Amino acid sequence: MLRIGVLASGGGTNLQAIMDAAETGALGAEVCVVVSDNPKAGALERAGSRGIPTVVVDKKEFPSRAGFDREMVRVLKEHGVELVVLAGFMRLLTGDFLDAFPMRIMNIHPALLPSFPGLGVQKMAIEHGVRFSGCTVHFVDRGCDTGPIIIQAVVPVLADDTPDTLAARILVEEHRIYPRAIRLYSEGRLRVEGRRVIIDRAPVCEGVLENPPPEPGGP
Ligand code: GRF
Repeated sequence: MLRIGVLASGGGTNLQAIMDAAETGALGAEVCVVVSDNPKAGALERAGSRGIPTVVVDKKEFPSRAGFDREMVRVLKEHGVELVVLAGFMRLLTGDFLDAFPMRIMNIHPALLPSFPGLGVQKMAIEHGVRFSGCTVHFVDRGCDTGPIIIQAVVPVLADDTPDTLAARILVEEHRIYPRAIRLYSEGRLRVEGRRVIIDRAPVCEGVLENPPPEPGGP
């Protein structure tokens, strides 16, 4: 069974979805450790209540980025982690960390990359007036939210959306696609070719979305 380590700084709803999928056997992987840079992260409590080991790597104890990442890598290796899953982890990783897990780190981002990388992206999507947003699971590379894309899910942006209502709509889809992406990895069906991820035996996506949808009798 694939051994995954989840890194989370916040509430941990994605971690929850991943642990739920693992429990039913749908993930094809087991969560071996949850690591956080934030001792108050809700994710730690969620993991603890499932009996999953948790580790806090405190930035006060490891003030340099290199030292912090070295400790993270040590903890992950100690738990035999094969795939690192970032679930709301609010720090950028150093090159040394990436080299320790080449193309074996995934992240989820609450926008349709490459649009709107970084933080505060639901607000940006609304302000920009896009008709659709969504979420992206991707492998992590040296850039910020730039790595090869594995799965995306699309949601409409509605006229009266606030960043919170849009974030909530996107989060529902995050909880679906993140376990799916991990499952694909565990089944050995993901292959990275340059910027692209080739998914072995992927079903074909058909159909067109329009927002606003076409009106009856109109063009
Ligand atoms: C999610 O929106 C995720 O896309 C982003 O951080 C948020 C984490 O939420 N990277 P949670 O802690 O999983 O609830």
